[in-house]
Amino acid sequence: MHKDLREVLLSRPELEAGVKKLGERISADYAGRCVTLVGVLKGCVLFMSDLAKSVSVDTRMDFMMLSSYSGAHSTGVVRILLDLKESIEDCDVLIVEDIVDSGLTMEYMLQNLRTRRPRSLEVCTLLDKPSRRRAQVPIKYAGFTIEDKFVVGYGLDFNGLYRNLPYIGVLKPEAIEGKNICR
Ligand code: IMP
Ligand code: MG
Repeated sequence: MHKDLREVLLSRPELEAGVKKLGERISADYAGRCVTLVGVLKGCVLFMSDLAKSVSVDTRMDFMMLSSYSGAHSTGVVRILLDLKESIEDCDVLIVEDIVDSGLTMEYMLQNLRTRRPRSLEVCTLLDKPSRRRAQVPIKYAGFTIEDKFVVGYGLDFNGLYRNLPYIGVLKPEAIEGKNICR
């Protein structure tokens, strides 16, 4: 376990099993169709690459990057920093996200992508943290439901760090105090 972590919440085998199950459900639900995976950068990267390998139907991949809140308080103001490259009109779109917390980011994404007239639009999140939900968003696929803890690893970061950990864990309070970017 990384020295900055207090505990491992989801081990590598647990993540592998959860992601495989999601892939199987998605493969069954989209049988005979092509699904466009829309990853939300940067948190989706590890999850999306493993998920895509567990999906047996044809896929396309595209990405968006949104500004998210910094600090403890979400303003609900979301900005698009990087938009999709391709049109999603008439496509079966599945948003791939690391975590749904307040739900404000996902609410914005759903509203925005709906205006582009996809054939279908669903959400797949690795983690669901329902305790702080402020916007009720329909989550079709959730890997794991977790308590109200700040977690890192497997794509999730604190100040840009820990995304590469192959498991998900909870930071020690000291680690939250002492980390600057790239030091
Ligand atoms: P929202 O509150 O649902 O809009 O979540 C916005 C973003 O906050 C997520 O996509 C994550 O990038 C980030 N986030 C929320 N909870 C956590 C956490 O526990 N660890 C790391 N990032 C988080
Ligand atoms: Mg995110």
